[in-house]
Amino acid sequence: MPVSLLEYDTVPENYVFPPGERQKKVKASNKSIPVIDLAGQTHDEIVNQILEAGKHLGIFQVVNHGMGSNVMSEMMRVSKEFFNLPFDERAIHYSEDLYKPVRLFTSTGVHDIVHFWRDCLRMSIYPVEDFKQYWPENPSNLKDAVENYARGLRNLSTTVLGLVAEGLGLHQNYFDGDLSGEPMASHINFYPPCPDPSLTLGLGKHCDPGLITLLLQGNVSGLQILHNDEWIAVDPVPDAIVVNYGHQMEIVSNGMLKGVNHRAITNAEQSRMSIATFIQPSKEGLIAPAEALHSEKNQPIYKPFDYREYFGNYVANLGDKEKSAEPFLVKCA
Ligand code: OGA
Ligand code: NI
Repeated sequence: MPVSLLEYDTVPENYVFPPGERQKKVKASNKSIPVIDLAGQTHDEIVNQILEAGKHLGIFQVVNHGMGSNVMSEMMRVSKEFFNLPFDERAIHYSEDLYKPVRLFTSTGVHDIVHFWRDCLRMSIYPVEDFKQYWPENPSNLKDAVENYARGLRNLSTTVLGLVAEGLGLHQNYFDGDLSGEPMASHINFYPPCPDPSLTLGLGKHCDPGLITLLLQGNVSGLQILHNDEWIAVDPVPDAIVVNYGHQMEIVSNGMLKGVNHRAITNAEQSRMSIATFIQPSKEGLIAPAEALHSEKNQPIYKPFDYREYFGNYVANLGDKEKSAEPFLVKCA
C-alpha cells in the first residue's frame, strides 16, 4: 500500500474529479428508496414490491430479512478493527493481483488520472470452505465474523433471487446454477474522512455487473443512485440490507428490471464503511434474456453471450453498462 489516505490533510491533485462529476449540494430529494419488510406482510405483497422497485429505481432495502443483527454488527466491528490496525499490519494484504482471494487495495479510479477516495479489502467469502484459510488472521475474530456473515448472506441472496424470479413469472430456481455461480465476493469499503468532499468521490458512477449486490452500510450516508439524471441518497436504515440490481439482471429480464447506476460520496467529518457483496454469474455462464420474457411483440434486446466476455468489457469500460453490453445488442433492422 503506497500511502494511506488518512495521511492527507489536503486533497492531492490526482484525486480531484472534473467539476461535472463532483457531488453537488443536493436539495432534500423527494424520492425515497423503498424499505421492504420481509416478515410483516403477505408473500404476494413482498414479491410485488421487489418487482416494482426493480422496474423503477433498481434498488431497495430489506428489513426483517433473517440476518441476525449481531451477525451484521460483528461484521462491521471486525471490518472497522481491520482498518484501524497499524498501517504495516494491514499492508501485508496489499496486492495488485486481481485474482487473489484476499487483497487490500486503495485509490482505484479512472485510468490513473483520477483516483477514488477509498481503501478496499476484497475477499472471496463463499463457499466458506474454499476461502476461510485466506482470510486475515488479524483481528482475531474476523474469520468467525465473516463466516457467519457469508452464510447468512447466501441464504438471503437465495431468498431474494427466488422472489425476483417469481415476480418475473420464472421458475423459483431460475437464478440457481451458473447464473449465480461465481464465488461470492465482498468489498469492504473504507472511505476515510476527506479534507474537501466537494472535489472527490469515494466511488464514481458505475453499475454493478452481476445479478444483485447486497450492501451493509453503517450509520454514515454516502451511497447515491442516479435516477432520471438526479442523484438520490440511499440513507442508512438500522439493520437493513440494501439490495441493488446489477446489469445481468437487467439483461436476463430483457430490460424489465433496471441495473442501477450508483456512486459513493465522501464527507469531511467521519470515515464511512460499507460492505458490498456481489452475486454474479460464473465466468462460464451463458447470459441471455429469459425465453419466457420475450415474444413476437417483445423481442430480445440482447444476443446470448458468455459472462466472461461481458466482464472483460466491464473492466475495460470502468463499469459503464451501455459500453459493456454494446457488442451484445440485437441491432434493429
Ligand atoms: C460497490 C459500491 C457503494 C457504497 O462497492 O460496488 O457501489 O456505498 N459501494 O460503498
Ligand atoms: Ni457498486
